Amino acid sequence: MVAPVPAHLLPDTAVIDTNGHLSVGGVDLADLAAEFGTPLFVYDEEHLRARCREAVETFGPGVAYATKAFLCVAMARLAHEEGMHLDVATLGELHVAEVAGVPASDCVLHGNNKSMAELRAAIERGVGRIVIDSFDELDRIEMIHAENGAVANALLRITPGIEAHTHEFIATGQDDSKFGFTVSTGLAERAIARAAASPAVVLHGIHAHIGSQVFRVDSLRSSAEMLAAIAGRFDLPELSVGGGLGVAYVSGEEAPTIAQWGKAVLDGARASGIDARIVAEPGRSIVATAGLTVYEVGTIKTLEGIRTYVAIDGGMSDNPRPVLYGSGYECFVADRANSDRELEVRVVGKHCESGDIVVRDGFAPADLAVGDLLVTPVTGAYGHSLASNYNKMLRPPVVFVRDGNARVVVRREELDDLTRLDVSAE
Ligand code: LLP
Repeated sequence: MVAPVPAHLLPDTAVIDTNGHLSVGGVDLADLAAEFGTPLFVYDEEHLRARCREAVETFGPGVAYATKAFLCVAMARLAHEEGMHLDVATLGELHVAEVAGVPASDCVLHGNNKSMAELRAAIERGVGRIVIDSFDELDRIEMIHAENGAVANALLRITPGIEAHTHEFIATGQDDSKFGFTVSTGLAERAIARAAASPAVVLHGIHAHIGSQVFRVDSLRSSAEMLAAIAGRFDLPELSVGGGLGVAYVSGEEAPTIAQWGKAVLDGARASGIDARIVAEPGRSIVATAGLTVYEVGTIKTLEGIRTYVAIDGGMSDNPRPVLYGSGYECFVADRANSDRELEVRVVGKHCESGDIVVRDGFAPADLAVGDLLVTPVTGAYGHSLASNYNKMLRPPVVFVRDGNARVVVRREELDDLTRLDVSAE
């Protein structure tokens, strides 16, 4: 017997009524599913705004939302309205930010292999900070300067040699990494000296991001301390501690808050005596718990003594995280959210492969039936943004809910969307 899903995995405004119906932002999930269909991404707008405000209160204006976690025009606008800048990692993310009306000067451009086109566009549009990742990139920026005299406002990404204690695919702070200028090999110091002397660059400071889904605030603090020591040595006025704060996905997990993370890294950096401006770029911790996905159960297959497979109408195309990183999720039924969950289930999608698992070891009420609305909480980060059209699945819509109202901010894909890029051989 497993208890109902704990409240800290649900959005801030989630309420379970006496009948067991879950509502978010004052709207019953069952009503949302009836109106917008399933699968459906639902985001609690108050929760999103509260986390943006917490980040701004902690780090001050200029703290950037890492858009890779979840980006659409409405999200870019929301984060910017709440005082955040935007971290973009490609020209595509910059484009969405600009369509949302966010000035390029409030964007920070990342990337370990920025193309000439990306760099040209970023410099022409006046991107607030370009985070330079390699000597090749410095060459490119100097080539652009030689063409037109343009100057890049920049940070340098350094690789501090600090383990993030997270999944290998999302750890970036260790020396053996494709990202940034390694401190231990002396690359970082060489890069800072070169950039500081380059007429193509205004070097404002340095940046490090040691990984994502990091629970250990001491690792994040160590990275901030190292950044501060280097910034102090070179008298650099700015440093960015990156993102990476972990969130709880399953019962029993607890994560530090944005404020707790901020205090640790700010204390760590300030302890070295520097007075540089310190910014950050959280993604997951802003959006993850604000979002959940509502699916409909389509088939239930019971293998006596082995397991029960519950197939929903989405899968690895709307949430590839279990397949990519072995990530765990919880599940529950939208109109029985306070029921104990006695039935052990494996929640699978409708794709044509056995790896298409959404919840490997989940629990559901014993009376789970075809047609039930199955909800996976904490899908607000790296769900919609990693979604694909595998098997030509239609990507789900995104609905923001607030004060009893729901608004579609990304519509559901339609069959015609699947061929809109095809150039038909006439
Ligand atoms: N800054 C930089 C330079 C980054 O590369 C990232 C994430 C962030 C900030 C934001 O990190 P966050 O606060 O969201 O942890 N797809 C993976 C996560 C990849 C993270 C990539 N970089 C997942 O689903 O777990």
